[in-house]
Amino acid sequence: MAPNPAKLTPNMGLKHRNSFGLDSTAELVYEISSADQLPTLMKALEEKKLHWRVLGGGSNVILPEYLPGATLLMNIRDQEILKSDTQNTWLSVGAGVDWHELVAWTLEHNLLGLENLALIPGTVGAAPIQNIGAYGVEVGEYIDSIEAFDSAAHAFVTLPKEACRFAYRDSYFKQNPNRFIVTKVVFKFPKAWQARLQYADLAKQFMGANSNPSAKQIFDAVCAIRSQKLPNPKVIGNAGSFFQNPIISDAQYELLIQQFPGLVSYPDIAGKRKLAAGWLIDQCGFKGKRVGSVGVYEKQALVLVNHGGGTSTDILNLAKSIQEEVNDQFGIELQIEPNIL
Ligand code: EPU
Repeated sequence: MAPNPAKLTPNMGLKHRNSFGLDSTAELVYEISSADQLPTLMKALEEKKLHWRVLGGGSNVILPEYLPGATLLMNIRDQEILKSDTQNTWLSVGAGVDWHELVAWTLEHNLLGLENLALIPGTVGAAPIQNIGAYGVEVGEYIDSIEAFDSAAHAFVTLPKEACRFAYRDSYFKQNPNRFIVTKVVFKFPKAWQARLQYADLAKQFMGANSNPSAKQIFDAVCAIRSQKLPNPKVIGNAGSFFQNPIISDAQYELLIQQFPGLVSYPDIAGKRKLAAGWLIDQCGFKGKRVGSVGVYEKQALVLVNHGGGTSTDILNLAKSIQEEVNDQFGIELQIEPNIL
């Protein structure tokens, strides 16, 4: 039986579908509720030469006032435990499932590992694209494979983890923009679980008598830390960290730390050091600064906010002045993290 076609809504307002709360109207919005709608839809878009993009939770995008062409709202929501052996359990999850709801569900079902990634806004399908990470864990570590529609081959493909090329806020999908539509993520949860507490904020909470927390306790702690530091997008528009933490060579780091002894950084792969971009921006005096309708969050300088009525141009202008100042003071180029559509 042919699948129901994807539901089409022309001229849809997306203000409530992006966490920055930017006013944006999409020319053609297709709601994808099942993967088998994609071959027909993508063929039609190709024939009409219509540009397309996928919108998940809208929590990592900067939308323009008008989005021409096709916007695919990802709403595939099936979820299934595929198998379990003595060591691992495999769980398949549709790309449209809410990320935080998935994390909570896995813990309730004793599938442990994602607790450090609690409260990250967005969808399951978007998670592998930028390889979401927080508190010492990256989602790629728990991914077994990904199913996606490959628009170049016009076919579904299954990419094993190694093919996804996960790295800090990066993946094969991000390196090949507008090619893949992630439809399903297969997670692999090892039954042998160990708490991951190396990140300073978490380590502080679980010292001494508390040094042996359960996954649920870590989940609760991560939720509390995030709620304290990061603005709730339902209250104040934002897309989480606006810049990536820059990765520099050990040699460059040695020079910088001599000049700026307070420089905050994390160890990275051999020969590299990851700097806290929030510290760099904070040092330049931007924290809490407001420029018209947009600004820098008062508790975390890495987060840009829309106080209401801001446009993508306002945000990008503020981002540019931050980039210029950080470059002038520290010689570091900050890369914007969310997708600019
Ligand atoms: N800092 C300041 N001033 C600030 C902000 C930060 O001095 O205004 C310094 C502090 O020393 C602080 C350090 O920077 O201890 C690190 O800050 P934080 O722990 O808030 O983490 P981050 O490096 O700014 C990264 C991720 C977050 C993730 C946290 C926790 C990136 C781009 N951001 O932020 O991810 O939640 O670590 O792991 O890697 C996101 O990607 O949207 C996001 C929120």
